[in-house]
Amino acid sequence: MTDTRCVTPAGSLQGELRVPGDKSISHRSIMLGSLAEGKTVVRGFLQGEDNLATLRAFRGMGIEIEECGEGELIICGRGLDGLREPDDVLDCGNSGTTMRLMTGLLAGQKFHSVLSGDKYLRRRPMRRVTAPLAEMGARIRGRDGGNLAPLAIEGSPLQGRTYHSPIASAQVKSALLLAGLYAKGSTTVYESHRSRDHSERMLAYFGAEVRPFVGGVTIAPRPRLNGCEVIVPGDISSAAFFLVAGLIVPDSEMMIRSVGINPTRSGVIDLLRRMGGSIELKDEREVCGEPVADLLVRTSRLQGIEIGGEDVPRAIDEFPVISVAAAFAEGTTVIRDARELRVKETDRIAAICAELNKLGGRVEALEDGLIIHGGNELNGGQVSSHGDHRIAMSMAVAALRAKREVRISDTGCTATSFPGFWDLLAQLRRD
Ligand code: S3P
Repeated sequence: MTDTRCVTPAGSLQGELRVPGDKSISHRSIMLGSLAEGKTVVRGFLQGEDNLATLRAFRGMGIEIEECGEGELIICGRGLDGLREPDDVLDCGNSGTTMRLMTGLLAGQKFHSVLSGDKYLRRRPMRRVTAPLAEMGARIRGRDGGNLAPLAIEGSPLQGRTYHSPIASAQVKSALLLAGLYAKGSTTVYESHRSRDHSERMLAYFGAEVRPFVGGVTIAPRPRLNGCEVIVPGDISSAAFFLVAGLIVPDSEMMIRSVGINPTRSGVIDLLRRMGGSIELKDEREVCGEPVADLLVRTSRLQGIEIGGEDVPRAIDEFPVISVAAAFAEGTTVIRDARELRVKETDRIAAICAELNKLGGRVEALEDGLIIHGGNELNGGQVSSHGDHRIAMSMAVAALRAKREVRISDTGCTATSFPGFWDLLAQLRRD
């Protein structure tokens, strides 16, 4: 297998670090910057593969985007009606956020477009966005009755409506809000548990009329969006690998600077603290409508906990690495209500279970979660990323506390969300 990496047990982890920009916010900065009037300057943009797919897609629709140095973009927005028909398929790569949000955004355009992606993305369910969009009047065709990409979108007039989402998904909510920009009448999305609210915050920041309320959000159509400056905070989902590493590797202490701690995303901090982890928030502040803090993490004794309900959407991308923390905790951790993990970049319930067990972990898969029996050491061995960036990095974190070297195959995928992960890890190790 390509890109195999060896990770040896670490003595300790020490130092100060920054993680790359938030992936969700980076996607949205390109989308809204493109639909705004005038220039948007983005700082701290994540130059990961997923976000670069979004960037190329908007260039493919005639938007001028200048990359001027490390994480800085200038987007020449052309207004709500400024996108041009792409003359080729828009390639979303591995990025579910790109495909689902753009499906909403493209549904109400005056042109035809086609979205596709890599073999993983072409297997992921799209009906969750195409079905409610169809109820707004969207004309979208795809394999499996509109469920699987490639998706062909024939732009059409949309009608705003109220939708009760059966899943707490920011991608579904955001797709409908973006379609709502082009609809006649307002669009309202209700969800059972609140999913991440970056779209609402950024839409409001650009000048849209967005009204969040308990249980949902409403957007008014055809706002004037104004180009502005977006400073992207560090991605808490990337910080999570170093939080868990700092907790489980002996004698560690790390300060992670400028991490987004939006309450719809910070479940990982709450869960790791519930397990007994020492994580302190320093210098809490707000940057461009998003809360940010520095995070200080120290080695801690962890205990197993029960996780479910509203914990799940607030930590949805962090379960691979939370499972690693659980494997080193005393007692058992039970994760429930997390069926969504089955349809992420890979089936993460199956992947976590298979890979931790290869190292001697004691993990059981549930239909909607995992049971992780902690308290035993992990061995060295050979594991696979399943082509999933977060599985690859979680296995690297597990390896830091394993008894012997762990070989992880197919690690190129870490560039999806965290270019520079391996170098940063090497810098923090004290062996
Ligand atoms: C994202 C929403 C989440 C998350 C994904 C990014 C977003 O997906 O897992 O990594 O940027 O809106 P769901 O909306 O499917 O839960």
